[in-house]
Amino acid sequence: MNSRAVIDDLSTFWMPFTANRQFKAAPRLLESAKGMYYRSTDGREILDGCAGLWCVNAGHCRDEIVEAVQKGLATLDFAPTFQMGHPLAFEAASKVAALMPEGLDRIFFTNSGSESVDSALKIALAYHRARGEGQRTRLIGRERGYHGVGFGGISVGGIAPNRKTFSGALLPSVDHLPHTHDLEHNAFSKGQPAWGAHLADELERIVTLHDPSTIAAVIVEPLAGSTGVLVPPIGYLQKLRDICTKHGILLIFDEVITGFGRLGKATASEYFGVKPDLITMAKAINNATVPMGAVAAHRNVHDTIIGAGAANAIELFHGYTYSAHPVAAAAAVATLDLYVRDRLFERAASKAEKFESAAHALRDAPFVKDVRNLGLVAGVELDSRDGAPGARAYEVFVKCFEAGVLVRFTGDILAFSPPLIVEDDQIDQIFGTVRKVLESVK
Ligand SMILES: Cc1ncc(COP(=O)(O)O)c(C=O)c1O
Repeated sequence: MNSRAVIDDLSTFWMPFTANRQFKAAPRLLESAKGMYYRSTDGREILDGCAGLWCVNAGHCRDEIVEAVQKGLATLDFAPTFQMGHPLAFEAASKVAALMPEGLDRIFFTNSGSESVDSALKIALAYHRARGEGQRTRLIGRERGYHGVGFGGISVGGIAPNRKTFSGALLPSVDHLPHTHDLEHNAFSKGQPAWGAHLADELERIVTLHDPSTIAAVIVEPLAGSTGVLVPPIGYLQKLRDICTKHGILLIFDEVITGFGRLGKATASEYFGVKPDLITMAKAINNATVPMGAVAAHRNVHDTIIGAGAANAIELFHGYTYSAHPVAAAAAVATLDLYVRDRLFERAASKAEKFESAAHALRDAPFVKDVRNLGLVAGVELDSRDGAPGARAYEVFVKCFEAGVLVRFTGDILAFSPPLIVEDDQIDQIFGTVRKVLESVK
C-alpha cells in the first residue's frame, strides 16, 4: 500500500489518548523528522516544541543512534533475557547506572514508562516481603500524578479521567497526597515556587492514618509533566524524603519525563539534591527510538531482594519478553554516549534561562493565567472557555501546528519541552508562534 492509500483510510488505527473522530475528520500526520523538525505529510516543516512526547531529547534521527539501531538489528534481532543474556543488555545497564545518583545502580529493563512504574511498585512490595515486612502493601501516590496506564500506574496516579472508567478495578490499598498546584500563591513563579513545602506534611498525616507498618512506597513525579507542568515547591521533595526515611517507606521518583537532561542534569534527583530509593525512566533513555524503559534500584533494595532466597531460586518473579531487547539496548548505548559526548544535559542547563524568559514573556498574552517553568520545561495555563474546558488550548495546539510549531496541551494548559539541542531562535519561534495564535483565538 503506498502512503497515499494508507492515509485515505484512517479507520483501522484506534488512536491512543486521542479524540479519534475529531482527529480523523482533520488529521495531522508526520512522515519524517530530523534534528529539531518534523515534516508533515503535506510537506511542511514543524518545529518540535515538545520533543515528540517529552522523549526525543537528542533531537530526531541522530546519525549515531540510527546507525547503532541498524547495526544492532542486523546483528542480533532478539535474544531472551530470562535465564540468558546478551552483552548489550549489560552495557546499556552500566551506562544507565553511570548516570544515576550514587547507589541507584541496579537496572531492571522494561519497555515503557507504564511498565517501569508497575515494576517499581512490585519491586517495593518484594523488598518489604524479603525483609520480613510483607504486610507493607499500601502505596501512596499524589493527586494529578501521572504514572502511565497500567493498573498499578492509574491506581497511584491522580488524573481523574484516566481512573474513572476503571475505578472499580484499581489497586485496593492506595492513598494520595494532595497536589501542589495553587495559583493563588504560586502564579507566574519562575523556577521552583517558594510556597507549598508544607503540603508534604500531609504524608505524615496519611502515614499516621494507615500506620507506617502498612505502607510500602510513595511515588511522585519530582516535576509533574503530563498533568500540566507542576514544579515542586522549594523544600517539598526533601520533606517527602525525610518522612519516608523516618518510617521505612521507599520513595520512588517517576522520572519518565525528567530523566536524561530535561532539567539540565541526568536526573531530577540530582537536580533537586534528593535521592529516592527507586527511579523509573523510559522515553529519553534511548531517545525514544525503540520502546524501552527501566527502573534504577538502590543497591540496598536490590541486594535485599536478591539475597533473600536460595542461590538457585528466581528472586523476582517479574519481567518482560522484551526486557533489554537488543535493538532497544543498542539504541540506549548510542544515545547515552551521545548525551555524554555532546554534553547535552549541560546544554539544557545553559538554555534554561533563555527558555524561562521566553516563556514568561507570554505573561501578558491573551487568556494566560499562569506561566511556570524549570529547566527545559514550561507550562502556560489558559483561562478556560465557559462550559468548554480544554477547547481553547486544543485550538491553540491546532493553530500552532498549522503555523509550524508542535506544542502539547492537557486541559487548558500548554506544555513545552523541546529537544535539548534547541537553539535560541527556535525558542523564540515556539513562544512567538504561541503569542500570535493566542492573539487570534477567542
Ligand atoms: C511520569 C510518567 N510516568 C509514566 C509515563 C508512562 O509512560 P509510557 O507512556 O511510556 O507508558 C509517563 C508518560 O508520559 C510519564 O510522564
